[in-house]
This record gives sequence, C-alpha cells and structure tokens, in this order.
Amino acid sequence: MLTAQQAIKAMRLLIVVPDDEVRTVVDEKLQHEGYERVKTASRGEDAVRLLSAGLAAREPIDLVVLGLGLQDRAGLDAFDEIRSVFDLATLLIAGREDRALALEGVGRGADDYLVLPVDLDLMILKAEKLLMRRFLRRELRRSTTRNETLFLNILAVMAKVIEAKDPYTRSHSEKVSSLSSAVAREMGFADDEVRRIGVAGILHDLGKMGIREAILKKPGPLEPEERAVVQRHPVIASMILEPIEQLQGALGYIKYHHEHFDGSGYPEGLKGEEIPLGARILHATEACDSMLSRRSYSAPKTIEEAVAELRTCSGTQFDPQVVEALITVLKHSGQLGRQDQEGVGRSLPELLEDITGRVSVDDSSPRKSGMRSATDSEDQSAV
Ligand SMILES: [Fe+2]
Repeated sequence: MLTAQQAIKAMRLLIVVPDDEVRTVVDEKLQHEGYERVKTASRGEDAVRLLSAGLAAREPIDLVVLGLGLQDRAGLDAFDEIRSVFDLATLLIAGREDRALALEGVGRGADDYLVLPVDLDLMILKAEKLLMRRFLRRELRRSTTRNETLFLNILAVMAKVIEAKDPYTRSHSEKVSSLSSAVAREMGFADDEVRRIGVAGILHDLGKMGIREAILKKPGPLEPEERAVVQRHPVIASMILEPIEQLQGALGYIKYHHEHFDGSGYPEGLKGEEIPLGARILHATEACDSMLSRRSYSAPKTIEEAVAELRTCSGTQFDPQVVEALITVLKHSGQLGRQDQEGVGRSLPELLEDITGRVSVDDSSPRKSGMRSATDSEDQSAV
C-alpha cells in the first residue's frame, strides 16, 4: 500500500503554460521532486484534449498548473473551460502585471496562484498541499463507501435472521422495503427519505428476534397473552436498533409500523399525523404484502381483493393519502390484474442496491375499525 506521499507523487499533473521557458522550468522542477506523471501543453485547446484523453483512459489529471496569458484574458477563458468540464485542482501562474487576473481566477474557483517569476519551491509546496487535499478527499470517499457496504451487509444479515426465525415472513421484509420505497417516491419524498423508509422496511419486524419461536411458529390462533407478546416486536426492534447512529431517522417508522390511522393500533395508540408518515407507509405496505402472501391460515388474496380492502380501511386503519399512493404504485408496476405473486419480490442484494440510490416497485393487509385484518390477525406471521 502506498503511503500518502507516494500516492501524491503518483498523481497526474498537467502544465499549461504558453511561455516555453517557464513551462520547461516548471516541468523540470516537478520531475525533479518525484512527480513522474507530468504532461505539458502550450495552448488551452491542447490542454482540453489531454484532459479528455486522460478521462477516457480512466487516468484523470489531478492538478493543472495553468499559466495565464499576458495582458489578455485567454488564460482565464481556458481556466473557465477546464473548470466547467473537469474535476481537478488548479494552480494559476500569472505575470506580475496579471495579478488581478489571478485573483479573479481564484474568485471563480481556482485553488491557488503564483506570480512570476515563479518561486519553484513555493510552487512545489502549493502543489503538494492541493494534491494532499485531493488524496484525503478520495480516501474519505473510499472509507465512506466501505462503511456503507458494511452497513448494508449487516442489514442483509439482520433481514435473513428475521426470516430464519419466522418462515411465514420469507421475503416479506424485502417486499415491504421495496414497496415502501416506491410509495415514498410516489409521494414525492426526497431520496434520503426514500432510502430511510426502505431501510426501515428491511428491519421493521426485527423485534421478532426477541419472541419465542413456539409463539412465532404456532400454526393456529394465538391466545390473548401470546398476542400481547408478539405485539411487543416493534418496541423490541427500536430498542435493538437504537444504538446504531445511521438508523436514528428510521427508528420511529419501525416502532410505530402497527399504529392505525384511527388510533386503534399499537404500541401507543397514536392517531393520524401523530404517527410518523414513514410508519404509516410501512403499515399499509406490510398489510398489502400480508394479504398477497400465502399464510398458514389463509390463501393469498388477489391484487384486486387487496386493493379493495385497502380502500375499505382507508381513513380507519390506513392513511388515505398512503393508500392512494400505494394503489398508484401497484398500477404502475403492472401488478393489478396479476394473480400469481410468486417471484414478484426482488432479491435482497438487488434491493439493497436499490435503496442506496435507485428504488424498485414491489407488492406487500388491513382492518376496518373493530374488524380483524391480516396485519392484526392473531396469527403471529401477520402481527
Ligand atoms: Fe410487524
């Protein structure tokens, strides 16, 4: 592994200076200091051609040392053109009379400048500082990507743990996540919020990890005390996940994903807009997936039957605006009219890829006030 200093010396530089003597002196000094990937150009057009070729070859230039033209604005024009297209550091060199031009260039985004005659040691210091900053930013991006990948892998493992413990929820988390993301996007949520809801969808039933398998796998109706145990799963999930900083924004969605719009849900009996919107979305999509899935106690509903039940329970169990967005998503995804839901869900790796940026559409049961629903059923798989 390269040290930071070695990595900087391996970066690519381009000197664009019209004056042959200045260009040569700058080039020789950089090479003498160990910079081996230095190209030169005397005109702006040649510089753009070299920069484009570097990009095409996946060998982008990291720093351009740009000599501004004497007494004219050609150098500044070249600088503007380069900065508008390429992502690189820029160090300007200006004639003593062109100091104002150099300052104007810095005002337009140049990183630093030097005035002729160039103090070559100062030039090396400035170039090294700019390249070090660029190197550190690159390393930070790589580290962030690695952390993000690790975080997503942990989510994938957690989702699999839930499924292993509760066979009736096989792929349920993935479907709820995917469908919830699509509903959030349909409702105009920003990308970060769509992603947050997608992650909450993956983890919403994580609290079932804290419930005995004898209850989770009980084929018949649950006793009241057993149902009370199962209904603790949203709170258990939020307690498990609370220490994870990246999930703070999703905790409320997970904790309240069984609240009902009319206040008849659990764990706190929140009502209407007291319930976080993300939780209202999760509740509707989870209900939808439960209705469409084969359970131990009932055959799956058709999409049309599920949509009809969503509409019946709109305003009581479900937020009406969420119901409308969900139905729109189902229509757009071509699911309405489809009887067979097998294979509709995306794989977890695909889903995790989706919730990092893109969002896919998927499928995912309701209750009139005072009526049983698939999500509120005494059956553990739908609680
Ligand atoms: Fe749940």
